[in-house]
Amino acid sequence: MSFWTRHQVFEKNSIILVVGILLVIAIGGLVEITPLFYLKSTIEVVDGVRPYTPLELAGRNVYVREGCYLCHSQMIRPLRDEVERYGHFSLAAESMYDHPFQWGSKRTGPDLARVGAKYSDDWHVTHLTNPRAIVPQSVMPGYPFLAANEVDPDTIADHMRTLRMVGTPYTDDQIANAAADMKAQADPDNPGADAFAKRYAKAAVRNFDGKPGAPTEMDALIAYLQMLGTLVDFKLYNEKANLR
Ligand code: HEC
Repeated sequence: MSFWTRHQVFEKNSIILVVGILLVIAIGGLVEITPLFYLKSTIEVVDGVRPYTPLELAGRNVYVREGCYLCHSQMIRPLRDEVERYGHFSLAAESMYDHPFQWGSKRTGPDLARVGAKYSDDWHVTHLTNPRAIVPQSVMPGYPFLAANEVDPDTIADHMRTLRMVGTPYTDDQIANAAADMKAQADPDNPGADAFAKRYAKAAVRNFDGKPGAPTEMDALIAYLQMLGTLVDFKLYNEKANLR
């Protein structure tokens, strides 16, 4: 029986054909999927990437709650127009601690993946309070109430514990000091500011909303916006990439 004659068995019986197709797809799937379980890293490790500080995490929660992702993406594609406008394209490692990720699929406003350090804190306070004070034609809503809402220091440790369950490497020390760290990051005169800076590399300690008192949602959101895309030193990253 030649090969083609044997192949007729499949062609003449649809059940055998379906079983054959499933078998072939299963083998293809296994070849693609199995290595992901034992490969040491599916996401390349990049220097500088760290989990969010408690204040940044609180700001990120405001970002998600207010639906900023409905108008803003956080994903710069490796295309020339995007890289020239927004900066280095996004790396997978830069969102490895994002649960849920904020890549987005709609750009009514600009991409925010590298908005950190682009503007001053004052700029953000004015813009978030009333975007039209800065961009007269802006369709972005104002969020003046953020300045009046204090962030809740009591739930942030629980949030960090939950993130640890899905793989974000928060230490016991970071979780135990979450509430104190949240206050310290928004107040350079806080006695805990130095200990905070040791726990989180490259974290800015500033009074983000420019007002005294307990950290507000405005502080938290600006702390988050100002760190976006700033953790990786791309000069070093590209040098290393060329060596590989
Ligand atoms: C209805 C859509 C919409 C929503 C919702 C929205 N924005 Fe915007 N955003 C825009 C538009 C349009 C611009 C560009 C004009 C401007 O600067 O106001 C913008 C600009 C910005 C900029 C300046 C970006 C740059 O590179 O110049 C920041 C930062 C920003 N938005 C943050 C936020 C945050 C934080 C939220 C949620 C609290 C938010 N936006 C919600 C539409 C939106």
